[in-house]
Amino acid sequence: MSGMRLDKYLSEMGNQSRTEIKQYIKKGRVTVNGQTQKQPERKVAPGRDAVCLDGKEVLFVKNEYFMFHKPAGCVSATKDAVHKTVLDYIDEADCHRKKELFLVGRLDRDTEGLLLLTNDGELAHRLLSPKNHVEKQYFVRLKNPLNEEEKERFSAGIDIGDEKPTRPAELEILKEENEAYVTLTEGRFHQIKRMFESCGNEVLYLKRIRMGGLWLDENLPAGQYRPLSAAELELLKAIN
Ligand code: URA
Repeated sequence: MSGMRLDKYLSEMGNQSRTEIKQYIKKGRVTVNGQTQKQPERKVAPGRDAVCLDGKEVLFVKNEYFMFHKPAGCVSATKDAVHKTVLDYIDEADCHRKKELFLVGRLDRDTEGLLLLTNDGELAHRLLSPKNHVEKQYFVRLKNPLNEEEKERFSAGIDIGDEKPTRPAELEILKEENEAYVTLTEGRFHQIKRMFESCGNEVLYLKRIRMGGLWLDENLPAGQYRPLSAAELELLKAIN
């Protein structure tokens, strides 16, 4: 019979090692379709067979998607010797595949806001591909008040010292004249900071609030995360 070994299924969906899972199986703690199953090598069909550990069904999850509200001070990496990383905030008990999770894009250490965490490489590729020009929107607070000239320079594209000027970007000045929303369709290193620097201004605070159709949940405090809803996932998958 084709399918997946029972011990592999359970260790992929949980945080226990294959050795621990084998012991659980041998002790009779695991059932498949209601029958106690004592052979770790027994094949199961993910999504079709009902696998239970201690009477609780263990569903098979292929892809996981989390919205993370990155706080300042946390680095957009999976490992760092000095600073707290995004993965340090994620509790294994909340996900099935923590070991496979990666970040879709990066934010500077002092930037806050929306980051997507997933193990879906195909979706990540589509969101990050320079060809797709996926919009990223930021709230920004600056040292000096903004003016129409900066707005025009943003929409024309700015020479920030790279090979090519930036793609046209939208700058929406808010009531406080040193605050704005910026929408980019690319993601270069320190891009927003460098764009304002070229205009003689300085970024004091930066927060990403949107990626494509996905908005940062206003009720999600910095440092917290939650799974994406089905509707949010649809919005992201609509990008092609
Ligand atoms: N632009 C920046 O300068 N920093 C970020 O983190 C994101 C965009």
